[in-house]
Amino acid sequence: MKINSLILGLVVVLCTATARAAAPVIPAVIPQPQSLTLHDGQFQISRDTVIIAARDARETGRYLGEQLARPTGFPLPIDTRSHPGKTTITLTTKDANPKLGEEGYELSVTPDRVEIHARTEAGLFYGAQTFLQLLPVEIFSTNRVTDIAWTAQACEIEDVPRFKWRGWMLDVARHFSTKQEVMRLLDAMAMQKLNTFHWHLTDDQAWRIEIKKYPLLTTVGAWRTNIGFNLDPKASTAYGPDGRYGGFYTQNDIREVVAYAAARHITIVPEIETPGHATAALMAYPQYSCTGGPFTTDLPGGIFNGIYCVGNEATYTFIDDILSEIFVLFPGKYIHVGGDEVTTDNWKNCPKCQAVMTAQGLKKEGDLESYFIRRLEKFINSRGKTLIGWSEIREGGLAQNAAIMDWVGGATEAATAGHDVVMSPTADCYLDYYQSTNQAKEPHAIGGYLPLGRVYAYEPIPTNLPPVFYPHILGAQCNEWTEYMPNLKHVEYMAYPRLCALAEVNWSLKESRNWEDFVRRMTIHLHRLDLMGVNYRKSLAKDG
Ligand code: ACM
Ligand code: ZN
Repeated sequence: MKINSLILGLVVVLCTATARAAAPVIPAVIPQPQSLTLHDGQFQISRDTVIIAARDARETGRYLGEQLARPTGFPLPIDTRSHPGKTTITLTTKDANPKLGEEGYELSVTPDRVEIHARTEAGLFYGAQTFLQLLPVEIFSTNRVTDIAWTAQACEIEDVPRFKWRGWMLDVARHFSTKQEVMRLLDAMAMQKLNTFHWHLTDDQAWRIEIKKYPLLTTVGAWRTNIGFNLDPKASTAYGPDGRYGGFYTQNDIREVVAYAAARHITIVPEIETPGHATAALMAYPQYSCTGGPFTTDLPGGIFNGIYCVGNEATYTFIDDILSEIFVLFPGKYIHVGGDEVTTDNWKNCPKCQAVMTAQGLKKEGDLESYFIRRLEKFINSRGKTLIGWSEIREGGLAQNAAIMDWVGGATEAATAGHDVVMSPTADCYLDYYQSTNQAKEPHAIGGYLPLGRVYAYEPIPTNLPPVFYPHILGAQCNEWTEYMPNLKHVEYMAYPRLCALAEVNWSLKESRNWEDFVRRMTIHLHRLDLMGVNYRKSLAKDG
């Protein structure tokens, strides 16, 4: 009984079930597992249940124990030995099926025991997430809940993700989210098996990460005189003691968030925007611009000219120094260097930039961006990391291992040229777009229209891409630019439920996508978000 015929199959089960079996509870797992077979009976967690986890499964065993303890009040012991006669939840990587890959898992639930098998802790973690979603939704409560039978329907699940990059980008430059808020958002991500958090840490309006060698980046660049964007100043609490608007993460904060993410099998991809969107950095260090400044992050219309001077050798030292600190803080493979929306007027009028163009034989200013990105790439590669950047960096003759994040096209060209590509087209993946055509009823947004049904229908593999290049499509990502989202509740409102749809696009089989069943599962899933205190738009309409 596979998922596609789940409902039909359940009717059969219900008609043939004997009186001994309780009516099966149809699971509501988001994202939908690849294969799910229901059986008679239910497993019930009690005070006597034991979690069995060998050393290779210890972290997930502990995580699961904590998740279960909060709502149930049962401090379930975690042991390495078997416990005959007790109900047990076993997590193990021993003899796992090789086809489960790096992130897959098998989950078996019988009335006596739960078993999660995977090759890796990541796979076990995803198995644990699915198991949590087989239990009553109250398992996601942040408080103790009594008078509930903590049962899970007996079933067999085999599950591997379709894509390996299941991403969400948050812009913390336009408005600052505290580290505690980011950690909350990571918890919600983990629940949907999203695994890549793209942290947009710098932009024209602010620089958010402490760089020891250049302290002005944050003492100056992390603050504005006001909230901007014509927003109500009271819409945010991100004010410093001196009344300035903003904030930043210390390197200790960053380490804490990176570790928190890693414990949830989420990789953080830091973005340090270059060569444009650099006004905050240049307000602090104008000597790395073509004009010498001055710069301000407080322009009311949001029109900025913060572009690094790429004809000045000192600029490269500055950026290399910054990246050197970034490499140490973020253990992941990718470093995002931006590259979008570069206006080249400053370069046209800059003798240093023009001299480099002449010396390098570059015909147009766009070639100068390519020259700059290639230099960054060499440096990033020399430190064992991989460069990723927005669509615009594609044409620069990058090395094949540079990855492209497609927001305005070029995915097919990039993938056929051998680059890995993350799909985040505006029309299907931009969470700053309105969720409904009835804009008057929605909080003010930047524009656009991206209803839930459109995210759910999104297919990350470009239609014109020859199959041999499919492996270059790493996955899809939703981007959340926060110009008009000055607080956490608003960020969550724009993220959910659309991120749940993206999670399913990334994880589940294309053939298993079924809008009606998604809505059925989401109706239950929204209760989980409620219990976790996550805000979301309260509509599951396909067209908003
Ligand atoms: C972008 O949305 N400017 C990448
Ligand atoms: Zn210049």
